[in-house]
Amino acid sequence: VELARAETLPAAWYHEPSCYARERERIFAREWLLVGHESQLPQAGDAMAETLAGWPVLLVRGADGEVRGFHNVCRHRAGPLLWDGSERCRVLRCKYHGWVYELDGRLRSAPDFGDAEDFDPARFSLHPLRVAAWRGLLFANLDPEARPLEAALAPFARAAAQVPLEAARLEARASHELACNWKTYVENYLEGYHVPYLHPALHSEIDVKGYRVEVGDGYALHFAPPRPSVREPVYEGFWAWLAPNAAINVYASGMSVERMLPTGPETMRIEYLFFFRAAGESAAAEREAALAMCARVTDEDRRICEAVQRNLRAGVYRSGRLSPRHENGVFAFQERVRAALGASA
Ligand code: FES
Ligand SMILES: [Fe+2]
Repeated sequence: VELARAETLPAAWYHEPSCYARERERIFAREWLLVGHESQLPQAGDAMAETLAGWPVLLVRGADGEVRGFHNVCRHRAGPLLWDGSERCRVLRCKYHGWVYELDGRLRSAPDFGDAEDFDPARFSLHPLRVAAWRGLLFANLDPEARPLEAALAPFARAAAQVPLEAARLEARASHELACNWKTYVENYLEGYHVPYLHPALHSEIDVKGYRVEVGDGYALHFAPPRPSVREPVYEGFWAWLAPNAAINVYASGMSVERMLPTGPETMRIEYLFFFRAAGESAAAEREAALAMCARVTDEDRRICEAVQRNLRAGVYRSGRLSPRHENGVFAFQERVRAALGASA
């Protein structure tokens, strides 16, 4: 199917638990997922845990400097090694009955366990995941068979070669809970069609006639030329969506890394990491302004996505059509989802 004839995904895919279950297995357990930035784990023993589409995971920097990833699931009775968040630790000690794992995942000891027969601790290491870094960003993959990160990211890496991703430091974070399916929000991110109606402040800065989205293999880029009257455009830069659920938004003052994390069939969380270039007094005001603007635009998007979600679930809408002028990014995303889930979904 081509874009000019394309229909949107069926409405049921945005709320049925069976569809979400398939996405967890076929998208989130197979693709490289952006999980954070190396500067969040500066030292040996620094660890962070979170839940990626229902998969509890942890990342930890070992004594050898390597960042490793594991399922945050103890081999005894499935307790968590870490609570969600970050901490510094010397070993990974299960929160439930205190089993101790080395930072490389091997089971060191099972305190006060008793005389178990045929119990070989070497067979009870934590389940590993793959972790790889690209230009300071950390990615994880649950699939041992997945192609290497460099191969998956190669087309995007070429598109971003000139973008100064290392020029800014991690300074702030924010998260937003949304009552919508993760795809509802990703699709909203992937088009500028809604800007004039939903984001008045943003609309006053950019020339919507020149707005376009360019789709690449595993990514999409927004091009939003500033209106000629705007002297110092806040929004000019490099805004990229990275399949399946991340975005990297680079502006004059710094960048934000945005993750769109499903937390259930009809709920999700957006996690932002904010990076800024300048430090000091004058930068503080600029930083506050950038954070406030991001919060405002996110809130405008949240409101519409939650309303769309209610309408997708209500029952009258089955599917619609996509704008050939504006929704090529949405189309590319929906084609990926179709391919991942298969025709049976
Ligand atoms: S579940 Fe981890 S020690 Fe029991
Ligand atoms: Fe928006």
